Amino acid sequence: MLKPINLKTELMNNPIGITIKQPKLSWSLISDSNKKYQKQSAFQIIAAESEENLRKEIYIWNSGKVFSDNICHIPYEPDLQSRSRIYWCVKVWDQDGQESDYSDIGYFETGLFGKEDWSAKWINPELETNPEKRYPASYVRKDFKVEGKLKEAKLYATACGLYECYINGKRVGNQVLTPGTTQYNKRLQVQTYDVKDYIFDGDNAVGVVLGDGWFRGMNGMNRKRNIYGDNIALLLQLELVYENGVRKTVISDASWKASQGGFIRFNDVQQGETYDANFYLGKWSESYYDDSSWHGVLEYRWDNSTLIGSNSVPITEHEQFKPKILSTPNGETVLDFGQNMSGYVSFDIKGSKEIKGTCITLIHGEALDEDGNFTLKHLEPLSEKKPHMKQEVNYIVSEKANQYYKTSMTVFGFRYVLLKNWPYEPFPEDFTAYAVYSDVSETGSFTCSDELINKLVLNTKWSQKSNFVDVPTDCPTRERSGYTGDAQVYVETGTMLMDGLQFFRKWLADLRATQSPNGKIANIAPMPDKKFSFFDGSAGWGDAIVIIPYKLYKQYGDTQVLKENYDSMKAWVDFELGEAQKSHLLRKFSRNRYKKYLWDTGFHWGEWLEPGQTNAYISNIVFFGCPETATAYMHYSCKLLAEVSEILGYKENAKKYAKAAENSKKAYQYEFLRNNINSERQCLYVRPLMFGLLEKEDEQKVADNLNSLVIKNNYHINTGFLSTPFICEVLERYGYLDTAYRLLEQKTIPSWLYAVTKGATTIWECWDGVNEEGKPKNSMNHYAYGAIIGWLFRSVAGIKEPVDGYKKFTVAPKPGGSLTRAEATYNSINGQIKSKWEYIDNKLHVQVDVPVNTEATIILPVDLIEKVVEFPNDCNLEIQNNSVYCKVGSGYYSFLIDKRNY
Ligand code: BGC
Repeated sequence: MLKPINLKTELMNNPIGITIKQPKLSWSLISDSNKKYQKQSAFQIIAAESEENLRKEIYIWNSGKVFSDNICHIPYEPDLQSRSRIYWCVKVWDQDGQESDYSDIGYFETGLFGKEDWSAKWINPELETNPEKRYPASYVRKDFKVEGKLKEAKLYATACGLYECYINGKRVGNQVLTPGTTQYNKRLQVQTYDVKDYIFDGDNAVGVVLGDGWFRGMNGMNRKRNIYGDNIALLLQLELVYENGVRKTVISDASWKASQGGFIRFNDVQQGETYDANFYLGKWSESYYDDSSWHGVLEYRWDNSTLIGSNSVPITEHEQFKPKILSTPNGETVLDFGQNMSGYVSFDIKGSKEIKGTCITLIHGEALDEDGNFTLKHLEPLSEKKPHMKQEVNYIVSEKANQYYKTSMTVFGFRYVLLKNWPYEPFPEDFTAYAVYSDVSETGSFTCSDELINKLVLNTKWSQKSNFVDVPTDCPTRERSGYTGDAQVYVETGTMLMDGLQFFRKWLADLRATQSPNGKIANIAPMPDKKFSFFDGSAGWGDAIVIIPYKLYKQYGDTQVLKENYDSMKAWVDFELGEAQKSHLLRKFSRNRYKKYLWDTGFHWGEWLEPGQTNAYISNIVFFGCPETATAYMHYSCKLLAEVSEILGYKENAKKYAKAAENSKKAYQYEFLRNNINSERQCLYVRPLMFGLLEKEDEQKVADNLNSLVIKNNYHINTGFLSTPFICEVLERYGYLDTAYRLLEQKTIPSWLYAVTKGATTIWECWDGVNEEGKPKNSMNHYAYGAIIGWLFRSVAGIKEPVDGYKKFTVAPKPGGSLTRAEATYNSINGQIKSKWEYIDNKLHVQVDVPVNTEATIILPVDLIEKVVEFPNDCNLEIQNNSVYCKVGSGYYSFLIDKRNY
């Protein structure tokens, strides 16, 4: 019998505070038997206002028996109001009509949908405004009374800046860095907390710490400040419902008190924090506190139509690490936490009268230099005029015997911490590093017989974790910016390794918010500048608005993500086509009949960070554009948009963009393929092969040439950001699996494993992130090159070609290289898929797990049925195009293949 478990709303576990009018429900299925080919034939969802009502059958919604094998993205149908808590459960029928019990109960709760839901006022805790000045964090508070027993208590809060909320001295919730980072002027997230257990019958107090955060702190490469405003502010509404039904609210308003006299003397999301333990405010967030020396607050203006609920996963603390304490050659003390990450450090320190006032400094960095000393040099800004990134905590000791500190108003990219002025011998147990990132769950794992490759996978996961802090960033250090190009090349791998649908949907909304009326997309979202710069609108970067929704749709089978981005996708592609119409001076007289589809204007980052890329190459782009990359991406986006239009039923658009794709292909062919590709740059072969820019009959020759180039380069890669994810895939597709494996297993520079052999714990921005002498260069934590991990899943383990979010898929493992074993597990939204292969003597053992309710085509790496010496008797092996395959339903399948050469 089937059993529905693991109920989710919008792919989150019992979310509260969502502001989605028609949330989507999902569940997983397990079976209590080993029976194969199991499927759900129908489901029934019931929903009620309370668990009790569900039991008493007082429903708000009863879907009735719905004949469907869908287990995800099922819309909740009734209308929803603000503050609705909905309890729901589901039962299912299997393929034989056997009915399950109802599942355990799940729930979701809506937040505040409209401006009218807010009676709270925005308050500014600071009495002066000076954009040049830095201010200590603000502490605000309010006492309130509760008379009687509460049935419910909900806190809704957000801030311009960062906020941390306390009730009766207790920190509310486990989210950090709230309200997160978004395109604040258009979208500001509100958090909802269930605070019933924080509140007493009698006197209570609520207190909030406010800091600068992304709102007013430094952002990006240029370390700009005051991006969204000069003031910080709070909006808070505490709604109490008594057991007798009476409602009361405690709101932020002019009656609140504020102080800047607390511990946090300086805070900046990029530069760090200064914490003076002598600035003790007492129990300021508890009742009976004397706040007579505190001052009042100012009212603040903010457009409440920008407020949105928490529709994605929050930022939380995750893994914890203890350091090794190093004494570096220059005599400094460095804490080595062994893992590069985004996060912060806590420590315990013993104070005394003698050391009171000592300023301890912790500088967070990700590398040691060629001499083994701590360094931040590799992250320095391009111009000396820009402020350096500090990532520095200064802690001023008080005389209190036991002191504890944890960073709260910022997050750093680091593995090492340079420790200065620690007043006595430091002990590892006194320090803890916390990895901090969006609460996305891990969905994929890959291991094989090569430990270096296993480490590469782990490093990629860590770069993902470090750069998934509410938005997908390029790096957690130097820029911390939501770069579109990086996200676009990585999304497929990212959603294999970790559950990314909600995370990316949220960020896509930020990206849409930055789009200009003419369709142009910024390189970065949220966008730190009010105006677009010369560098915005780059091909391969702006195309993220098309590629990411498309890839998410493929991975999750969710058309919603296409619908909500469709207008923006279209606007971007129209922008590209419009830009292409404007011919570059040099091509004014070109004979290319399709030159109106050649995008040779504007600035583009191009392949970006190819080995050996020179400054001359970059200035060439500045003056002459980058028509090869731009036209290829325009073609690719047109093609995807045509397919998306078809899926959404916009037939006319489907035709229109398919035609534009065809024309840009012709333009590309004339300009870049007519006279063979005479270049040593591998990307110029990878891109047309990957994007289908060649005529069928020319493909093999181009692939042959790519293969020769790779061999000539001694099996080294020389692609940059854009082609790296694809090179192994195209080599494999045209018969060069061996070459693809040689690239994967290469250990000398440039290669993926070079960094691993150099002790990397994350993916570097450049292939030569640390040179042979040990000198670090640029960021050590950029996930872009980690996009190869997608190929490990899709080809080495063979889990690929998802249809409807892996309701149907293919498993076609491709053993090769020196690997003797590989296995991958992927928790798709339709269930857990496993693929494993292993050589045992002269036989290859292939094992596949197909989850309940799904179907798979298993393609075995063998050309003759006779060589499959053992296979499940319910598998009907067939042969087509020299490969042996079978189509199966759910279940476990094991095959033994004779691998001897005859
Ligand atoms: C960032 C990138 C980004 C690139 C091109 C860099 O400074 O770190 O990862 O994609 O600029 O815009």
